[in-house]
Amino acid sequence: MTAEFATRAGLVTGAASGLGRATAIAFGEARARVVVADVDEAGGAETVRMVEAVGGQALFIRTDVTDAGQVEAMVGGCFAAYGSLDFAVNNAGTTGRGGRVGEYDLEDWRRTVSTNLDGVFHCLRAELPIMERAGRGAIVNVASGAGLVGFPGLPAYVASKHGVVGLTKAAALEYAAAGVRVNAVCPGSTRTAMLEGYMAQDPRVERMMVAGVPLGRLGLPDEIAAAILWLCSDAASFVVGHALAVDGGSVVQ
Ligand code: NAI
Repeated sequence: MTAEFATRAGLVTGAASGLGRATAIAFGEARARVVVADVDEAGGAETVRMVEAVGGQALFIRTDVTDAGQVEAMVGGCFAAYGSLDFAVNNAGTTGRGGRVGEYDLEDWRRTVSTNLDGVFHCLRAELPIMERAGRGAIVNVASGAGLVGFPGLPAYVASKHGVVGLTKAAALEYAAAGVRVNAVCPGSTRTAMLEGYMAQDPRVERMMVAGVPLGRLGLPDEIAAAILWLCSDAASFVVGHALAVDGGSVVQ
C-alpha cells in the first residue's frame, strides 16, 4: 500500500488534531503529499512538522469547512501545489453541545450541522469535479458510529453524522462510473482531544463508553487512520459507498 501513495497527493480536513492529524501522518509515512486543512493554525503547523518528520510533504491551508468559498480555495490550492487530487479525507467535525431535542438550542444545532454535514458537502462539491475530470480518485468522509445508530443526548451530532453517511452513498452512486470511489468511516469512541473533552465532564462517562465496546477499550487514532488509508488505497478498489465501522464491535451488538 505504501508505494502507491509516493506518487499521490490529497488533503485531510480537521488535520490539526486527533484523527485528522493521525491520518495526515499516516499518509506522510506512505510518502504522500498532503494538504493539512483546519481552522487551527498552530495545530496545523504542528501537523505539517509531524508529517515532514516521517518523510512526507505537507502544506497547511487555513480552512473553515463551513465556508464553501474557503473550501473551494483550499481544494484548488491542493491541486495547484501538487498537480493532482488523488485522495481526500473530509474529517473536520464537532460533537456540539449536549441536550434533548425538545430543549436543543437553535444556534448549537446550526453550528453542529454546519460543521459536520455542510462541511462535508462543501468538500465533496469542490473535490468531485476535479476527480471526475481525472477519471480517478478516492474520498473518505469521517462519519461516526452515531451515523449508523441513534443515541440520546447529542441530537445535532447524531443527525449530522447520519447525514454524512447518506451523502456518502448518494455521491458514491453518482461518481462510481467516473472512477471515483466515495466511502465513509464510522469510528467508535477514540482517544482524541474531542473525546477527552467530552469524557472530562464526568469520570463515569469513560467507564460507560468502554463498557459499550466489545473489545473492552477505546480506539486509538492510528487505528482509524489505518482504515482511512486502506479505503483510499488500490487495495479497496471495489469498495464503493460503504460506511465502515471501526469501533471494536460497538454497533453490531
Ligand atoms: P478533534 O477535536 O481532535 O479534531 C477535530 C479537528 O477539526 C480540530 O483540529 C478542529 O480544529 C477541526 N475543525 C473543527 N471545526 C472545523 C471547521 N469548521 N473547519 C475546519 N476545521 C475544523 O476531534 P477528532 O476526535 O479527531 O474528530 C475528527 C472526526 O472524527 C470528527 O468528524 C468526529 O465527529 C469524528 N469522530 C470522532 C470520534 C472520537 O471518538 N474521537 C468518534 C466518531 C467520530
